[in-house]
Amino acid sequence: MTEAELYSLYKGVYVPMHLHPPESLRYCEEFTFRPEDILIATYPKSGTTWLQEVVPLMLSEGDLTPVLTVPNWDRVPWLDEHRAILLNLEQRASPRVFATHFHHHMMNQSYFKIKPRVLYVLRNPKDVFTSSYHYYGMASYLVNPGTQDEFMEKFLDGNVMFGSWFDHVKGWINAEEQESILFIFYEEMIADLKGSVEKIAKFLGKSLSPDVTEKIADHCVFKNMKQNKMSNFSLVPEEYMDQKKSEFLRKGIAGDWKNLFTEAQEQRFDAAYKEKMKDVTFKFMWD
Ligand code: A3P
Repeated sequence: MTEAELYSLYKGVYVPMHLHPPESLRYCEEFTFRPEDILIATYPKSGTTWLQEVVPLMLSEGDLTPVLTVPNWDRVPWLDEHRAILLNLEQRASPRVFATHFHHHMMNQSYFKIKPRVLYVLRNPKDVFTSSYHYYGMASYLVNPGTQDEFMEKFLDGNVMFGSWFDHVKGWINAEEQESILFIFYEEMIADLKGSVEKIAKFLGKSLSPDVTEKIADHCVFKNMKQNKMSNFSLVPEEYMDQKKSEFLRKGIAGDWKNLFTEAQEQRFDAAYKEKMKDVTFKFMWD
């Protein structure tokens, strides 16, 4: 199926129709934030699921019950997806935790008024591409990626779900409300998960004992999290995600692009990156 058949354009950005029907986008547009809310914002395949595990564990002070009993999409719902309407989010106690793949400019009026806390996760775009390439090949609600070369052109042009990685990142790093946003790199979580948990906890004003921090980091390492059926998407029917083709929690490493890219693809990607990011002064971990 084609982009025209599977995606709709919302605020100029492709969103998968199946997950974001018009009534869900309307609900999200009218949603009222609270100052205590925590929003995990990401370009898809940057580490959303990882944060959907880490943050609830911080709030439960290391009690594993919420992550072992509630699927990640209800535990930390995507505000813009179809389930949000069903979850009675208005009745949830603070601090509520949500996820979104929206670009900064797609956020609603309440967001800009209330300025809730945001955890924005960044990942090397070559690894985002690599993870996406496998994911688009197994998820039926997305357009089949075609060849790597074809998918690379679409990715670089932003003709994929949630549009351009470059615009997404530039929008959030240039947000005016910098004091309410914590930028976290997927790569720093890989290098030092315990340190990342401490950094996130500090930003959220949560003091965790060394034992609890250790417990959270231990549960959230890839091999342990992969076993959690509330987080590994094994509850999703195969007709939507065929994990026999590629698992959702696939490799969980930094630098897997090196196993996928040809030399020509690396050069093509680097040239596009250089051009599109030429005015950006933000320091990325992969530069
Ligand atoms: P890979 O496909 O490279 O393995 P998102 O949740 O934003 O869709 O991102 C999915 C990517 O994050 C996948 O990358 C997935 O394996 C990785 N991921 C999820 N949990 C992880 C963890 N605990 N440790 C490392 N990577 C993780």
